[in-house]
Amino acid sequence: MSTTDSAKSPASVQIRTARGDDLSGAISVGHRTWLATYEPIAGPEYVAMGLAKWWTRDAVTASIRAGRTLVAVLGDEVIGVATHGVQDDHVVLWKLYVLPGQHGKGIGSALLREVEQRAVAAGHRTLVLSHIAGNEQAARFYVKHGFVTTQVEKGGSGMPDSVWMSKDLGNGADAT
Ligand SMILES: CC(C)(COP(=O)(O)OP(=O)(O)OC[C@H]1O[C@@H](n2cnc3c(N)ncnc32)[C@H](O)[C@@H]1OP(=O)(O)O)[C@@H](O)C(=O)NCCC(=O)NCCS
Repeated sequence: MSTTDSAKSPASVQIRTARGDDLSGAISVGHRTWLATYEPIAGPEYVAMGLAKWWTRDAVTASIRAGRTLVAVLGDEVIGVATHGVQDDHVVLWKLYVLPGQHGKGIGSALLREVEQRAVAAGHRTLVLSHIAGNEQAARFYVKHGFVTTQVEKGGSGMPDSVWMSKDLGNGADAT
């Protein structure tokens, strides 16, 4: 892996800021990963809503232009996406998605580590995120990386609840 090291990661995976020509690849990661992850947990309507809201060309283009999207690239293929933003005095990890066939190889950890390093470099001490209730795989992943649950936000109107988590970056970015 080029910007970060992970014993489990394919050495040829590159973690970098997304460019304009990553747009289709990033959207494809979003669509494929959302369907596989959320349809069994939250149903097809939630998937359709999320893709229409957060994975349109406009939404992803705006995030790429703002420099807030990172991609994991293997060869010519985008296989992972992370987006982040600043809200109040902390950084929010808005998206972290790795293609289902690529899980468990250290790619999500590498994307998360890069977001943490950028947050620390920009002078932030806290990284927050939310995952939907029932996404136990993501919950385990974040706990392993030092996040603690801070609140559960009711979804309402048939939407799943959101579990908010936070991590103190005061000691620097993740080394795991
Ligand atoms: C959560 C996610 C980003 C983690 O990315 P990843 O590349 O699989 O994570 P890593 O390989 O760095 O870490 C794997 C760890 O996560 C867990 N894990 C998650 N999915 C796994 C899988 N399919 N196979 C093996 N381990 C998995 C394990 O606890 C593993 O721990 P280990 O290193 O002790 O074996 C990825 O699984 C994903 O995209 N999930 C679906 C989308 C999602 O839920 N995103 C989070 C939205 S809030």
